[in-house]
Amino acid sequence: MRIVVCVSGGGTNLQAIIDGIADGKIRNTEITAVISNNKGAYALTRAAEAGIDGIVLSPKDYETRDDFNDAFLKKLEELNPDLIVLAGFLVNIPEAVVKAFRGRIINIHPSLIPSFCGVGFYGLKVHEAALARGVKVTGATVHYVDEGTDTGPIILQKAVEVQEGDTPSVLQKRVMEQAEWVILPKAIDMIALETAD
Ligand code: GRF
Repeated sequence: MRIVVCVSGGGTNLQAIIDGIADGKIRNTEITAVISNNKGAYALTRAAEAGIDGIVLSPKDYETRDDFNDAFLKKLEELNPDLIVLAGFLVNIPEAVVKAFRGRIINIHPSLIPSFCGVGFYGLKVHEAALARGVKVTGATVHYVDEGTDTGPIILQKAVEVQEGDTPSVLQKRVMEQAEWVILPKAIDMIALETAD
């Protein structure tokens, strides 16, 4: 199964996928390319170190959002992946891309959807909201991407305990280590095996 991973930041989820393929946890899968909207993303360094093509595609480089959307769709169609993995990709996925790749785009979200998700809930904001609400358990979710924000069918979830004195960044790190880096590789492996059948 050929995958394209879309990133914007540090790329720890991308690294979990790279490592999962290397150690056999993710079967029947290769990363064809990494696309980032942020040319300074450390995720691109991780891709380069793993010998994976890194492509920068940013809305800032286009006159209009429509021009970016067209270029993004064109690039994806050129790469023609079996699966698109959004791993901390902070760009809204154009409707045309959702339609062209329906059922073949997944996203990792750092909460137990339907809690703390939707427009405005990304990165540390998700954990700030969880701590503000006082939940005792949070976690991460891998879901299919549809036209909404964090609204597609859920594939996997993993719960993580909130501990006394947690700050948003301490909680974020625990959710990444104990949940995100576990269920995203697992979801890719599951889909890769379905694709293999
Ligand atoms: C992670 O917290 C992920 O849940 C969210 O964005 C962040 C990406 O982190 N979607 P990284 O770039 O994978 O380190």
